[in-house]
Amino acid sequence: MRDELLSPEPTPEDLEPGLSDRVSGADVIGEEGGLRPRVLADFVGQRELKEHLAIILEAARRRAQAVDHLLFAGPPGLGKTTLSGIVAAEMGVGLHITSGPALDRAGDLAAILTRLGEGDVLFIDEIHRLSRTVEEVLYPAMEDFQLDIVLGKGPAARSIRLDLPRFTLVGATTRTGLITGPLRDRFGLVARLDYYDADELQAIVERAATILGIGVDAAGAAEIARRARGTPRIANRLLRRVRDFAEVRGHGRIDRATAHEGLAVFGVDDLGLDKVDRSVLTNLCTKFGGGPVGLGTLSISVGEAEETVEDVYEPFLIQCGLLMRTPRGRVATPAAWAHLGLVAPADATLAADPARTLFDG
Ligand SMILES: Nc1ncnc2c1ncn2[C@@H]1O[C@H](COP(=O)(O)OP(=O)(O)O)[C@@H](O)[C@H]1O
Ligand SMILES: [Mg+2]
Repeated sequence: MRDELLSPEPTPEDLEPGLSDRVSGADVIGEEGGLRPRVLADFVGQRELKEHLAIILEAARRRAQAVDHLLFAGPPGLGKTTLSGIVAAEMGVGLHITSGPALDRAGDLAAILTRLGEGDVLFIDEIHRLSRTVEEVLYPAMEDFQLDIVLGKGPAARSIRLDLPRFTLVGATTRTGLITGPLRDRFGLVARLDYYDADELQAIVERAATILGIGVDAAGAAEIARRARGTPRIANRLLRRVRDFAEVRGHGRIDRATAHEGLAVFGVDDLGLDKVDRSVLTNLCTKFGGGPVGLGTLSISVGEAEETVEDVYEPFLIQCGLLMRTPRGRVATPAAWAHLGLVAPADATLAADPARTLFDG
């Protein structure tokens, strides 16, 4: 399992205690809640998406209409929940939060829909995990703002149709591929969130430090940002751990050296790799000569499920240029050998560099 420190999933510390299905956009509480940007202007990065949203929100405001339904896709911790709160706050409407797995039966969704106010935002997290029956209740609600309810059973059953207020559905998903076509088509905007670059993460760390009253200089913030796997949630969490370290072992302020030492103590390496990432690379290099090796074999050797290795670990290793997917299997790059402090055998380097095999082969 991934170290909790580097997992993009929220831990209890990250979660906001008061986040039930009915919160107003302005008072999401708890530490991560406190760090959540409330308005679009405070949301760092994702420039293109922010611009699109600014236009969509402004247009809806001018027409005094509810915002079109929005779908945010992307890995955990990149700001999907935050954006749903921003949409509600910017529009001055209520925010209702639920998730795909929480909506067991059609009645659960009906209960939430009938409580919505005019223009409110309904946020459905992990919307790809909605059941088919619930999804089918959602279609007419999204499209015509109508809810069909069946009363009674058997021959006496009758169906009534309720008008719903015009609301905005904001969906979030980590797996766009799992969203059914009909659902996807009912969103006015489908946006993909990307990993953040180092400068953006540094700005996020500096912003969080200001809010939490932590002294951190630019080099300290950059050091934390560099190891946060492109993910704001991880950046904020690393900041809190380095703050602990600085208070207990240091002089309270976070500079580059303090950040470096603190992160080393918590087992975060120079690139932000954790035990499992390193285990993937170490196994690949030491047991399989740097590859190519099949995903199945590699997964067994690190004791993780194939899907976990493929969806959770590999994307970041690939992004760091440490691992390659080739038709013959996974291959460690020269950078991976160097990062582990190992010497790459000559042919491993060749396997990772198709251009060179052409000339040297
Ligand atoms: N663009 C951003 N700017 C500043 N902070 C951000 C940004 N995106 C995310 N965060 C921080 O990261 C945390 C996780 O974001 P969240 O919206 O919960 O991610 P997701 O819902 O995609 O998993 C938030 O509490 C917030 O503090
Ligand atoms: Mg979320």
